[in-house]
Amino acid sequence: MNNRRNWLKQISLGAVGLGFYPFETFANTPVEDSVFEYSDQSPILLLSNENPYGPSPLARTAMAKNINSSNRYGWELSSDLISLLAKKNNVLDANILLGAGSTEILDLVLQYTALSKGNFILAETTYNYWTFPSEKLGLKKITVPLTPDKKHDLTAMLAAIDSDTKMIYICNPNNPTGTICDREKLVSFIKEASKKAIVFVDEAYIDFTKEQSLSELVIENKNLIITKTFSKMYGLAGARVGYAVAASGTIEQLSMLKSSPNLSVSVLSTVAAIASLNDEKFIKEVYSLNEEAKKYTIEQLTRLNLTCIASHSNFIYFSLENYKKDYFKQLEEHNIMGTKIYEENGKWTRITIGTMKEMHQFIEAVK
Ligand SMILES: Cc1ncc(COP(=O)(O)O)c(C=O)c1O
Repeated sequence: MNNRRNWLKQISLGAVGLGFYPFETFANTPVEDSVFEYSDQSPILLLSNENPYGPSPLARTAMAKNINSSNRYGWELSSDLISLLAKKNNVLDANILLGAGSTEILDLVLQYTALSKGNFILAETTYNYWTFPSEKLGLKKITVPLTPDKKHDLTAMLAAIDSDTKMIYICNPNNPTGTICDREKLVSFIKEASKKAIVFVDEAYIDFTKEQSLSELVIENKNLIITKTFSKMYGLAGARVGYAVAASGTIEQLSMLKSSPNLSVSVLSTVAAIASLNDEKFIKEVYSLNEEAKKYTIEQLTRLNLTCIASHSNFIYFSLENYKKDYFKQLEEHNIMGTKIYEENGKWTRITIGTMKEMHQFIEAVK
């Protein structure tokens, strides 16, 4: 108990964060007996918008130091993480629910929505893997096309709400397009739409922008749910830490769908998340490395006459319409994993922004 308190105090004072750490050297570091083996032959992973720099050095240390605590349940640590997240988001502890990645929150919100049947609305094209069980849950999915510049069409989404609509999902910044909603327009959309249904805002990529999160709005609005993750900026995709921010009553409702709310994040993942929250240096570095590699990649793709959408995230949406070679064959030959075509019309695809070295290799591959 005292150790936990001391550690938290130390972490929050930044005492363990002092000094220089060359975190770039951690990227893809081979770890003895690790399930992920890296070598020069390993594929370059530019498909899932992971952080190529790995977890923050403080998170690595925290996990390594706490390995022996994995025999215990992490109730108290979860409460510590909840309090830190409440502080970070300017809300109360009762406004936070932890999940094993934001996927658990997305699943829960879908199940919660399904309790009252009806339909839910989302953009075409947006992050939609989590909607796959919707039909089985008795929910009808309504999709609303993006605007020609690949943004959420908030006016059309508002107009699509009918008396059966139970939830509207907005991914902001949007995956896969990397576009962001104008804050004022989004706030007024939320005000209107939440009179009729739950507005569910996914801020998985908000840390890659200078935008302020919408989380504070949940205090006043019981029909707004925000979800966030440690998988992207914080480099903890494999650790599985995410959370919901919502009005306390809504958090209670979501929690009732779980036998043990806040228990799905392991002790090691919880200490990693706590340590990461205090590693501002790492976050700043990842932000600027991502910006730099993004700028380079967009410039190079544009030189190849490929249209790119301005990105507010760690990936780029671009069109293969003018591309003369077989893009996927080029990637395969260069051992690079990209993702699919999202929109046949315009042949739009997405590439995750890796390290500068990886982006040089990507550009060489597609040249
Ligand atoms: C927009 C968005 N939301 C949520 C997730 C789920 O991430 P996780 O479960 O790792 O938090 C992803 C994953 O790529 C995503 O792109």
